[in-house]
Amino acid sequence: MKVKYISIVASCIACANAAVVTPPLDSEGMQALVTKEKLLSNLKDLESIAYDNGGNRAFGLPGFTASLNYVKSHLATSNKYKSWTQDFTTRFRQQAVSFTVAGKAYFVASINYSSNGPDTTFDVTAAVVKGPTGTAACSPDAYSSLDVKDKIVIVGRGDCPDGQSVVSRLRPAVSAGAAAIIIHMDTQEGSDVLRNSILQVSDPQTFRPTAFMDYKDGLSLLSLLEAGEPVPARFVQTFVEDVRTTQNLFAESIAGDPNNVIMLGAHLDSVQDGPGINDDGSGTSLLITMFHALQNYLPKNKIRLAWWGAEELGLVGSRYYTSNLSKAEANSILLYLNFDMVSRGYYGVFDGDGKTHGLAGPPGSDVIEKLFIDHLVAKGIPITAAVFTGGSDYASFMSTLKKPVGGMHSGTGVAQDPCYHRRCDNYSNANGTHLEVIAKAAAHVLSVLSNEGEKMIPKTLMEPSMDGRMRMDMVDSFPWTTVEGEQHLAVCGGHDDYYLEQ
Ligand SMILES: *[C@@H]1O[C@H](CO)[C@@H](O)[C@H](O)[C@H]1NC(C)=O
Ligand SMILES: *[C@@H]1O[C@H](CO)[C@@H](O)[C@H](O)[C@H]1NC(C)=O
Ligand SMILES: *[C@@H]1O[C@H](CO)[C@@H](O)[C@H](O)[C@H]1NC(C)=O
Ligand SMILES: *[C@@H]1O[C@H](CO)[C@@H](O)[C@H](O)[C@H]1NC(C)=O
Ligand SMILES: [Zn+2]
Repeated sequence: MKVKYISIVASCIACANAAVVTPPLDSEGMQALVTKEKLLSNLKDLESIAYDNGGNRAFGLPGFTASLNYVKSHLATSNKYKSWTQDFTTRFRQQAVSFTVAGKAYFVASINYSSNGPDTTFDVTAAVVKGPTGTAACSPDAYSSLDVKDKIVIVGRGDCPDGQSVVSRLRPAVSAGAAAIIIHMDTQEGSDVLRNSILQVSDPQTFRPTAFMDYKDGLSLLSLLEAGEPVPARFVQTFVEDVRTTQNLFAESIAGDPNNVIMLGAHLDSVQDGPGINDDGSGTSLLITMFHALQNYLPKNKIRLAWWGAEELGLVGSRYYTSNLSKAEANSILLYLNFDMVSRGYYGVFDGDGKTHGLAGPPGSDVIEKLFIDHLVAKGIPITAAVFTGGSDYASFMSTLKKPVGGMHSGTGVAQDPCYHRRCDNYSNANGTHLEVIAKAAAHVLSVLSNEGEKMIPKTLMEPSMDGRMRMDMVDSFPWTTVEGEQHLAVCGGHDDYYLEQ
């Protein structure tokens, strides 16, 4: 009771003070408000959203809409910020497969172009049988003593003598009459790392629908087949392709200089293969937490937060946004900060001055980099220079608008995130301490830039000839797509989340 009484008094004092004067952003105050607990609580919510909606938060699917509504519910609490969505459309593609044996559903990953026709739904109910093992599965001879005709055959993964691990196991099984093929993975890695993939070649004559099954499930299925009795199974594979509408979501301070807008962004969509908690629930949560902290301050330069849609399909949302601004709108933006994958890995600060990777951002990017570095160095945090691969939404601001960009990114390599674009990118994949360090760095840098960014950063203005709307093809002029040895970085925001197999 006593505690309750005290808290009522305290909150009345706080609101009375707020009514008197709302101060400009203060780095220490902002940092104190972006806590690990708040950051993690949003991540937990995003995980639930994914699991309530088929395991992902991807473009064109219900988990994205639920994520959008979730962020909107946070934004609705403010009367100091206005918020809005921007619709755009893009092509949706989904390949899905399910496999049920004796009533038990197994997790399998689909392999596109393994089937015998475009846009098909393939649905077969048949017995599942054990195929040849090892490299024997690469040769039709191994099937001479096996009856796989019109059945679903399970074969082990592994390279064939010709170096092809999928196609060269598929062809012999199909020539022996198999209706569908399950490829049993040959490593101990679990089903959470299985991914949908695409064959490098399409060959309707010699292929049949094929899916990957993980090692452990494969062993349990094989032991079921040991008894020799035919085991009934159902294999369903679908490919959906159409055009869907999706959204970018924005929140903008009503206060602040409208001619020097500081923008921050994170993508709201995940890949289809997983809940997308590090990629990019982490950046999404960082922005939500920042939004709540900002309610206590009156920004000098206006602040605009963006949650992008369809990033995983090739930065579609941020490209749409940057290419659809009027000249006046484009001119009002001072700079852009990006947060994509910030809850585990290294403490990567974008190499704004290009001194590490030889690829600088537009003028002013060096200033942003230094703000992050000075803050992190003072806290004794080890820093990695993150290269501009073009693999996330900052690229839209760099190439179309030539705006200074910066931010943090903690890496997509296996060492940084073994669950990158996989089913295991859930809540337990995120490190709250790591995310908190980056969120506090972002809170610090945002405070400085909102207070005096216009004095530190040169303003990029659009060419006078660029009146009206910019054209989408200009967005494709991003010159920095691959950097040797860092190809995997470009996959985040690459053009799909399917993996090539041969
Ligand atoms: C899958 O293959 C079909 C043709 O069979 C094609 O139309 C579709 O675009 C492919 N989907 C993906 C995700 O590549
Ligand atoms: C820009 O967005 C507006 C609505 O916000 C829309 O009406 C218009 O078609 C878009 N134009 C381009 C070129 O994308
Ligand atoms: C998150 O992923 C891990 C690794 O795949 C898994 O063990 C765990 O059960 C998952 N969490 C939830 C809530 O499903
Ligand atoms: C999380 O990150 C912190 C800071 O880098 C590190 O000390 C800690 O060991 C990490 N926790 C886990 C479970 O990896
Ligand atoms: Zn991402």
